[in-house]
Amino acid sequence: MAELLSSINMMKINKFSVVLVTILLPLLVVQSKRPPPLTKDYYKKSCPRFDDILNGIITTKQAETPTTAAAVAERDADINLSLPGDAFDLVTRAKTALELECPGIVSCTDILATSARNLITMTGGPFYEIPLGRKDGLVSQASRVLGNLALPNMTMTHIIDMFKIKGFTVQEMVALVGAHTIGFSHCSEFSNRIFHYSKTQPVDPKLNPKYAEGLKKLCANYTKDPTMAAFNDVMTPGKFDNMYYKNLQRGLGLLASDQAMAEDPRTKPTVDLYAANETAFFNDFAKAMLKVSIYKVRSDKDGEVRHRCDSFNK
Ligand code: HEM
Ligand SMILES: *[C@@H]1O[C@H](CO)[C@@H](O)[C@H](O)[C@H]1NC(C)=O
Ligand SMILES: *[C@@H]1O[C@H](CO)[C@@H](O)[C@H](O)[C@H]1NC(C)=O
Ligand SMILES: *[C@@H]1O[C@H](CO)[C@@H](O)[C@H](O)[C@H]1NC(C)=O
Ligand SMILES: *[C@@H]1O[C@H](CO)[C@@H](O)[C@H](O)[C@H]1NC(C)=O
Repeated sequence: MAELLSSINMMKINKFSVVLVTILLPLLVVQSKRPPPLTKDYYKKSCPRFDDILNGIITTKQAETPTTAAAVAERDADINLSLPGDAFDLVTRAKTALELECPGIVSCTDILATSARNLITMTGGPFYEIPLGRKDGLVSQASRVLGNLALPNMTMTHIIDMFKIKGFTVQEMVALVGAHTIGFSHCSEFSNRIFHYSKTQPVDPKLNPKYAEGLKKLCANYTKDPTMAAFNDVMTPGKFDNMYYKNLQRGLGLLASDQAMAEDPRTKPTVDLYAANETAFFNDFAKAMLKVSIYKVRSDKDGEVRHRCDSFNK
């Protein structure tokens, strides 16, 4: 438990995980109609160095930025305010290199999906092939993101429904949320669990008391400093593993929605399965991510290959 507390108190925002949220979350909110054929070799002829270039950029990033991936174990306490710029930077650099090599060919959405997969694999998670050839959206997703993303204070029924509407089963949902084995959440996302849970109990009784204590210390100033954040997986924050599910079984789930998955009879069996069997988690996660990556793919008509990933072509 001493180990646990020290990892809460010496919290570090991991640049790598910012990269992941920037990359993973947009994947879940794409829309469109008739899917063009996607293949893992889509760029083989038109941009043969696609994989090399992406791998090169992520590897460089890792070498340059010791706060990424495995180095998270160092856990020093600085918080870098320019973090979101870092994730953005990775995509921009990949896009710039790819535009030089093969202009107008590789979509930003394929860059995002492939980078997410590469980062997951590099931190110990499963490898899965990404079907390539998707186009980028013609409509800004900003407003859609809000309406499409689950929030930690939603009921499990509401969250299950949101995934169901998109065609994902409860088991697939539990597997996907396993992405919380990496990354972090800002104090505001769980502050009600530690400061004002209910009239009679300030702290959510489902939280491990020592963990709650550590989180309270960490977030003591969060209204003054809204960048304060805690790792989603307090035990192995930089490693893509099944520790997230083991944590849930011990009251070490950070978000109310995480913890609820270990209690709700619809989700608990899958949480218990993944906590006991990492292979089962990895297999299901890879399959579900594949399903996410082909979810409502854009055809040429309602999509384009952006020249810049932060703006439309016209
Ligand atoms: C039950 C549904 C879900 C809820 C309620 C939820 C909620 C959240 C919240 C509140 C955060 C913290 C954001 C912040 O403070 O900046 C977060 C982080 C994150 N979520 Fe989820 N999420 C859900 C499902 C998913 C899924 C399906 C994925 C990916 C497949 C995912 C990937 C991530 C990642 C990678 C982070 C870390 C962000 C970072 O380090 O910057 N989440 N999630
Ligand atoms: C924060 O990150 C930026 C971009 O990655 C870097 O240039 C800067 O030196 C970092 N600052 C600190 C205090 O680590
Ligand atoms: C859930 O959280 C969001 C964002 O923090 C807030 O706007 C909303 O009112 C909350 N909903 C409930 C039911 O507490
Ligand atoms: C909160 O703020 C107080 C006073 O500014 C400071 O002494 C303390 O170290 C801060 N705590 C954290 C966890 O940042
Ligand atoms: C774990 O899951 C995998 C994949 O479903 C399965 O092949 C294996 O037999 C399971 N291991 C145990 C110990 O149940």
